[in-house]
Amino acid sequence: MKLNSANINILVKTCRNAAKVLIRDFGELEHLQVSLKGPGDFVTASDKKVEKIIIEELQKARPNYSILSEEIGEIKNDSEFKWIIDPIDGTSNFLHGIPHFAISIGLEYNGEIICGIIYDPIKDEMFIAEKGNGSYMNNKRLRVSARTKLKDCIIFSGGPRFNSENKELVFEEYKKISAKVHTAIRKFGSASLDLAYVAAGRCDGFWQRDLNYWDIAAGIILVKESGGFITDFNGDHKYLENKTLLAANSKINNEIIEVLK
Ligand code: IPD
Ligand code: CA
Ligand code: CA
Repeated sequence: MKLNSANINILVKTCRNAAKVLIRDFGELEHLQVSLKGPGDFVTASDKKVEKIIIEELQKARPNYSILSEEIGEIKNDSEFKWIIDPIDGTSNFLHGIPHFAISIGLEYNGEIICGIIYDPIKDEMFIAEKGNGSYMNNKRLRVSARTKLKDCIIFSGGPRFNSENKELVFEEYKKISAKVHTAIRKFGSASLDLAYVAAGRCDGFWQRDLNYWDIAAGIILVKESGGFITDFNGDHKYLENKTLLAANSKINNEIIEVLK
């Protein structure tokens, strides 16, 4: 592994342990898909189980750090450090037996993400990044793509949720972007992996509204350390307040901001 600070080692170990349960449960799902009760309750239980393993591991290694995790919320401690956890990002995929989901954990220090991990246990792809030290997928250094024209790009997005009050706005934005992108817009259902793929240059950009901090914490540092830009739809850094997130290389990032205006 190219990055091996103490916190990165903790994250790697934690993800590998939690992933064992995740992989086993994903295998179980095959049987549940065809049962009358369906897999819903099982997936909820799995989500909580994975979260518990992650939190126990992290607390064992760093007892004084605070935690924000999707299912249990906040565990506040007197520390400048905070783990931001999404135990399963891509739950709908998981539920439907689609092998595209991830564990996502970022570490915040004084309000800034300083390292992060996104682990896709099915493909065994581990995306890690640390402030100032770059980003890697397994042992390969990551760079965002070099494409400079939106029309040649593959752009990812997600949403809107069926009950979103921004539904019309999201459709409008989708229309604007798709008028410019000649290649393709894709929706893969895991925001953390969407960001990891931008970092890896597999896709050129990603935009989405209404994401939560745990969906994007690790992805933010991955994209930044791969040379990409992370902004809101106005090109500012208020993505948490405004709940609009745009990730891409510098050229595409600007073009998307112009299109969304
Ligand atoms: C969801 C996924 C999805 C995004 C949703 C998220 P979850 O997270 O990241 O891609 O479109 O907005 O809530 O519920 O699977 O953890
Ligand atoms: Ca999520
Ligand atoms: Ca989740």
